[in-house]
This record gives sequence, C-alpha cells and structure tokens, in this order.
Amino acid sequence: MSGLQAIRYTRGKLEVLDQLRLPHEHRYDDVSTSEEAFDCIKAMRVRGAPAIAIVAALAHGVELYHGSCRASTPTEVISYVDSRLDYLKQSRPTAVDLTNAITHLKTVVRAVDIAALGHDAAKSAIVDAYIAAAEEIFRKDTETNLRIGEHGSRWLLANAPIKSPEGKVSVLTHCNTGSLATSGHGTALGIIRSLHSAGNLHHAFCTETRPYNQGSRLTAFELVYERIPATLITDSMAGALFATRKTENHIAAVIVGADRVVRNGDTANKVGTYALAVLAKYHGIKFVVAAPTTSIDLQTTTGADIKIEERKPEELTQISGAVVSADGKIDVSHTVRVATAHQEIAVWNPAFDVTPAGLIDAVVTEKGVVEKGESGSFDFRGVMPERW
Ligand code: MRU
Repeated sequence: MSGLQAIRYTRGKLEVLDQLRLPHEHRYDDVSTSEEAFDCIKAMRVRGAPAIAIVAALAHGVELYHGSCRASTPTEVISYVDSRLDYLKQSRPTAVDLTNAITHLKTVVRAVDIAALGHDAAKSAIVDAYIAAAEEIFRKDTETNLRIGEHGSRWLLANAPIKSPEGKVSVLTHCNTGSLATSGHGTALGIIRSLHSAGNLHHAFCTETRPYNQGSRLTAFELVYERIPATLITDSMAGALFATRKTENHIAAVIVGADRVVRNGDTANKVGTYALAVLAKYHGIKFVVAAPTTSIDLQTTTGADIKIEERKPEELTQISGAVVSADGKIDVSHTVRVATAHQEIAVWNPAFDVTPAGLIDAVVTEKGVVEKGESGSFDFRGVMPERW
C-alpha cells in the first residue's frame, strides 16, 4: 500500500496533510477541535468524500479525549456530541459519507447502557464508545478501498471493450480519489493501483480537473510517487483522447469516485464527470463509479434532489503555484497567487455535477460490483440489504 497519508492519527492527536500546498510542499497541521476540522474541510485542505468524514469524526474524538465536554449528565454528553456533529455536517454539503458517519456515531453513543452503568461511568463510556467508533471508521476505510480495488480490477479485466496486445487495460480518471482522498489506497485510483500492482495496467490518464486542479496537483502527484505509467491531460482533451483509440493507449474505461450515489444510481461527483460519461458513451468506453457503500444514499431517490455545493469565484479567476525560475527549477519556498481572468467577471462554480445512472455501466463497492439493470437504473439491495 502507498506510503502517502492524508491523515495521521494516534489517540488524542490528529494531523492532516495540507492539500492546498501540494504537490510542492508536504506539511501536516494539527487538527484538535471541531472548529479546526470545519475550517480544514471547508478550505479543502482535506477533501474527498471519505477523508472529509474521517477528519470530522476523528477531530471530535480528539476534543472529547482532551476533555472538551463539560456536561454533567450522560444525556447532556449525548446532546453535546450531537451538536458538534451537526455543526461539522455543515462544512460541505454534497458528499454523503460525512452524513452517514454522523448517523452511525450518533447511534453508537445512544447504544451505551446508561441505566446499567450509573451517571459517571456512563459519561466516560459514551466518550470511549465515540472515540472507538471514530477510530474504526478510519481503520476500516483502507480495508474497504483494497476490496474496491480487487472487485474493480477484476470487473474491468472481464468487461474491457479493448485491451493492449498483452491483455492490459488503459483507463482515465478524474479528480483525486486516491490515498489523499481516503485513509489509504483510494477508490477509483485504488482500482488503478490494484491493476498496476497485478501487472494489468497498460496506462493511466488523469484529467487536470479544473477549477481546483485535484487531478494535476494531487492525482498526478500520487501517480508519479508510485511510478504508475500515467499521462496528464486537460479536461477538454478527453474527447480527443477517446477518439484516438487506435493508438496503443486506447482507453477501456473511465473510472471515477463519488460524493453521493443515490437510490437509482445517479451519481454526484467532481464537476466534469458528467461530460466524461457522455463522451465515454459516444465512444463505447465503459464508465465505472468506484464508491464505498458509505457513499450510497438510499434516502434520496434521484440525482435531481442532490444539493450541489457552489464555491467561490476566485477558484476560477485565480490560481496559485510555486515560482519556476528561468532554468526550469521550482522554488518550493516561494509560492504565488496569480489572477487568470478579469476579476469582475461573473462566475458560476459548482463543485460537482450529477451523472445520470443511464450513463454508468457499473458501481464498484467493497461488497461487490453492481451493474446497471435492464431498466437503466441500479438496485443496491445486493450490497446493502441492511439499509434497504
Ligand atoms: O471537491 P473534492 O475534491 O472533495 O471532490 C472529490 C471528488 O469528487 C471525489 O471524486 C469523491 O469525493 C470521491 S473521493 C474517494
């Protein structure tokens, strides 16, 4: 597994890699309170649906560990946990992993048998139960991703419309869904890692992913870090790439992650995903969503009901980077912010878009692969019967 870690944790201490500084600088910040976690998530120093949920869950655990809760009764401790989690939930609205983690943590603290323990013991049992459950979310995520990697690579090898003469596949991915977006390995990028480690990857392409550039700043960084054969393109080059399928790098599939997969399979993911799905359909390329079951939202029926986060105009009109000297050397100690558009132009900046289920061939979860049914939508009963 990759040595790259977005989140470092030991009980009572949480450190988060500042992804705004990547790929030039590798700096971890302490995140010790819900407020610090909220800011870190909102500013996208940590991002990616699973990583957001993990940081929020652990940060509240860290403040509890250090005695932030001054409540005098067990019921007040539960109200305190609820209020901190409800606050954290507002940090970013589209990814459902955070909501699912919060629902789970609220259930865990309510399962403590207050009557049997007595007041004082129950108060610390609630805190202990919370911390253990938050740590379990963090621990389980990497396991989940390794399974997604296995299921996804097996499905792709069996269903790829085209392969290299050696039987390997080439894929394209969008945004960042790797170790930086999770506790490790990643989802869509995890499938690419699994394909590569088994010798089944011919080539990976990653999009730049405007406006925040998760592809060029983060995915390209992970691919180079692991020496996976890969090429960066701008988002607008995908059509040209798909149209040149006769070259040796013919794309078999687009593999993306998800912020929210709803009941019929409509999927919210990084803006630009929908355009890639349309292009893939036209070119006969498989379109695969890789998502843990914690990214599936069975309460929402179709994509029309997903709240899409809109972000500030500066993400489109300005860009930051490290200074490059005349001889091509990068000065990592000197980063600058540069205006790239007229600062008064009106801007629309949705962080995500919704890909209709009809354009998706398969959703890869840790419990197995769900293929689209005859009706053009998905049925997730097989992978999450308990929540149906
Ligand atoms: O805005 P971001 O960077 O948080 O968006 C991330 C994505 O869209 C990912 O594809 C998704 O969260 C899945 S990460 C495993």
